[in-house]
Amino acid sequence: MSTRFAPAGPLRGEAVAPADKSISHRVALVGAMSEDPLTVRNYLAAEDTHATLVAVQALGAGVEEHEDELVIRGVGLHTAHGVTGDRLDVGNSGTLMRLLPGWLAGQRTGVWTLDGDASIRTRPVDRVAEPLRRMGAVIHTADGRHPPLTVHGNALQGVSHTLEVASAQVKSCLLFAGLLASGETSVTEPFPSRDHTERLLSRAGVPMERDGTTARLSTMDELEIGGDDVTVPGDPSSAAFLVAAACITPGSRVVVRDVGLNWTRTGFLRIAQRMGAVVLADLEEPGTVTDEEPFGDLDVAAAPLEGTVVEADEVPLAIDELPLVALLGAFAEGETVVRGARELRVKETDRIAAVVDGLRGLGADIEGTDDGFVVRGEGRLAGGRIDAHGDHRMAMLGAVAGVASEEGVEVEGMEAAAVSYPTFERDLGALAGG
Ligand code: S3P
Repeated sequence: MSTRFAPAGPLRGEAVAPADKSISHRVALVGAMSEDPLTVRNYLAAEDTHATLVAVQALGAGVEEHEDELVIRGVGLHTAHGVTGDRLDVGNSGTLMRLLPGWLAGQRTGVWTLDGDASIRTRPVDRVAEPLRRMGAVIHTADGRHPPLTVHGNALQGVSHTLEVASAQVKSCLLFAGLLASGETSVTEPFPSRDHTERLLSRAGVPMERDGTTARLSTMDELEIGGDDVTVPGDPSSAAFLVAAACITPGSRVVVRDVGLNWTRTGFLRIAQRMGAVVLADLEEPGTVTDEEPFGDLDVAAAPLEGTVVEADEVPLAIDELPLVALLGAFAEGETVVRGARELRVKETDRIAAVVDGLRGLGADIEGTDDGFVVRGEGRLAGGRIDAHGDHRMAMLGAVAGVASEEGVEVEGMEAAAVSYPTFERDLGALAGG
């Protein structure tokens, strides 16, 4: 399906960001691991997080959907249901594909095969299979690297893992496995990545040791999240598309309400501020260790932008928003460089190739590198046609580019936005006065 996004005048008004995808996945999984019912408000209603609810139900958890809340009746940490041949469909969700094996690997019995759509089958899972095997997990993958992934429940031992690349998905998987493994499990990353799993497990009564880039926990009998209600904040990665649109469409002033402000997710807002964007928000202090998920409003106004350099340490804090950094770069004065972001090559699509080809096709002066890209800003973008390649964030990138462009943008595959932000077109259209 192709959709045209015409150039718009100043964006004005307010939007409420959709619920956080990362937190929703984790809440569903931790709820399923818990013995007491967990009430969740503002769970993300989108394709990826729906797949997680279906998966936890297949594992024996109950999910009751009420008008404005969800109740998850967990099966307990050690008793996920599984019989030989159980197939779990993760759809397009890399997060579900990477997180779930951690829990399943430590079950006493059961065999599960995790599979998904065509994009999922191209995304590496050896990054979770190999460290899980070091803990004693029994896991098979299609060709040693890709889904389908079959996991047999087995006894696990705690291991100290050191990751070569910062990845919240891998870290979370190993921490879940650590809850079931004997002894202590730790995960050390080269740079901090999003810490929603650590915050949620702390809330569920897990004594977590966290210092800098290491998280450590020990085996648990049960989780106690059930006593608490959880409200999922708005997703800063989804909000970022509206923020970017306001930053590059002259005269805009937009407020996005109830956005998660966890410092491990607000890298893009800091990069945008550094480029000259006016983004007023009560951002959490970098390095904060807490079990809360702070949220608040973003008040954004368009302003002239300057190029910037994004280095490897900032990449995990803005990983899903780096395509938007490229777009801001095209509207900025001077050069914008992103380095140390090779991970973009294994996202829903190769996001370095997709961003470079996509934005170049719209008239941007952009070049790809092995681990990022370089954009020479021209303060404008002509427009044209862009292919989302089935990637929700590429589809939304194209839409935002269209609104801020001179001639408009035709986005091929706009329906992909439903993976994380089903109401995106409506929200962007409302701000654009449409
Ligand atoms: C996610 C972590 C990130 C991110 C993805 C969601 C998560 O992946 O790109 O969209 O919820 O843990 P990595 O941390 O593996 O890079």
